[in-house]
Amino acid sequence: MKDKITVLKDKIASAHLGGGQARIDHQHKKGKLTARERIHFLMDENSFEEIGMLVTHRSTDFDMEHEKYYGDGVVTGYGNINGRLVYVFSQDFTVFGGSLSETHAEKICKIMEMAMKNGAPVIGLNDSGGARIQEGVVSLGGYADIFYRNVQASGVVPQLSAIMGPCAGGAVYSPAITDFILMVENTSYMFVTGPNVVKTVTHEEVTSEELGGAFTHATKSGVTHFACSNELDAINHVKRLLSYMPQNCEETPAMLPYTMADEHRASLNSIMPENANQPYDIRGIIAEVSDSDSFLEVHKDYAENIVVGFARLAGRSIGIIANQPAYLAGVLDNNASVKAARFVRFCDCFNIPLLVFEDVPGFLPGTDQEWHGIITNGAKLLYAFSEATVPRITVITRKAYGGAYDVMNSKHIGADLNYAWPSAEIAVMGAKGAAEIIFKKEITTAEHPQEKWLEKEKLYSDIFANPYRAAERGFVDEVIEPSQTRSKLIKAFKMLENKVVNSPRKKHGNIPL
Ligand code: HXC
Repeated sequence: MKDKITVLKDKIASAHLGGGQARIDHQHKKGKLTARERIHFLMDENSFEEIGMLVTHRSTDFDMEHEKYYGDGVVTGYGNINGRLVYVFSQDFTVFGGSLSETHAEKICKIMEMAMKNGAPVIGLNDSGGARIQEGVVSLGGYADIFYRNVQASGVVPQLSAIMGPCAGGAVYSPAITDFILMVENTSYMFVTGPNVVKTVTHEEVTSEELGGAFTHATKSGVTHFACSNELDAINHVKRLLSYMPQNCEETPAMLPYTMADEHRASLNSIMPENANQPYDIRGIIAEVSDSDSFLEVHKDYAENIVVGFARLAGRSIGIIANQPAYLAGVLDNNASVKAARFVRFCDCFNIPLLVFEDVPGFLPGTDQEWHGIITNGAKLLYAFSEATVPRITVITRKAYGGAYDVMNSKHIGADLNYAWPSAEIAVMGAKGAAEIIFKKEITTAEHPQEKWLEKEKLYSDIFANPYRAAERGFVDEVIEPSQTRSKLIKAFKMLENKVVNSPRKKHGNIPL
């Protein structure tokens, strides 16, 4: 037995070396951690249990039978993050550039299936040159096996993808199906076709970083939800993100212990600018209303006219969707609608209640918006809110105009409670535009048209630029002092915690994609 144990230990030591010390050194020189180091920093100490450490590839073309490494380019297993079970795969760039072989794919599929059966999140740490070129179609099949399981697992267990190196070609579609993508600035990139192909086909000259780096995807495409400054930052983001989520769709997120204190927030009574057209940063309201330092913004640098993210309210995990008056006046456009819709659907999948702060002048007009499908995209957000069955509360802080009033979690589409601040203005459109349309004749025939217009604008404003018409109808449940917002919300979400909705039986809905 002693000798046999020595053999085993040698094999384990060999597996731990991946593609060898020289390649590990090279990885470090590029400012990157190895697959195992990443797992070490991600998981609770000594909690990681590896599965499939001694797997090797099966290919024989190109003399491949003479070059085998234990693990075959991916470290897979399970362990704990802050005491909670998670499954993880971490691609090892030191073995054939982390490229995906048949067996590499099988290892990933195996832990995904275990995660689904046992109801725990899957975390992928991606660092791969894509399909194992020596294996051809077998590798492509392996990718498709993963994509299929990503889809099966979607909405069953949370799936997070941290991109720590290259992720190119069809390989991008696994992270794209998962719930959240995190990228590392300067060392990771994602694209369907790289700079060389781009140059050949479109004659564009572009670097990898410009084409598909973290900054690009965090600001231009919205592909990544987080651009992290380094790998440890990405790993810490993964841990924090997980803390707001339950293990699976059958559970609710863990409540953090919270002792009720003075929940009155006097400063909110003076947070709103005097002039209704003056911008303010909605994050100020979010910070005051949620538990201190609990807000984790998602998609921070993309479609900044809407702010989405996770927070806690008296220890309870919630998802916040808020129009941002400080950016494009908080208008809804294509990107903001899609960003918010996806976030709403994630929260609804995993029983995370929704809180909406509404200050929206309407949908952004223009050919650019129409030609890029604001009809379909706006409908996505409307659909996402309407189908969400988690507790849903809206606070109208100021403007709630036009179709955007309906879309932003109105009572009519199923919100449980709708509060308004006294500064709320709820109408079909702004008073100036409204007066111009409905009093057109009177204004144009008046002796002083401009004065008449102002007079009619004031009339419309007096009637509708307030929350009371909506409150009289019950479309707003209560008009509240801003300082009461936090305490009202804590009580309301507690009241809604056992909410049950029986949706009509169907195979699945047909969200306008
Ligand atoms: C096999 C690969 C590999 C791959 C890299 N390697 N990619 N081996 N299959 N796809 C190996 C290299 O031979 C090298 O081996 C080691 O990994 C490190 O690669 P380097 O090129 O030295 O590293 P670097 O300079 O950092 O460049 C990384 C890279 C480059 C940009 C990823 O390796 C590259 O362009 N690779 C090919 C990418 C690609 O075209 N993949 C297929 C995409 S199509 P040694 O022995 O020297 O250490 C695809 C389809 C998926 O993925 C479809 C799913 C539907």
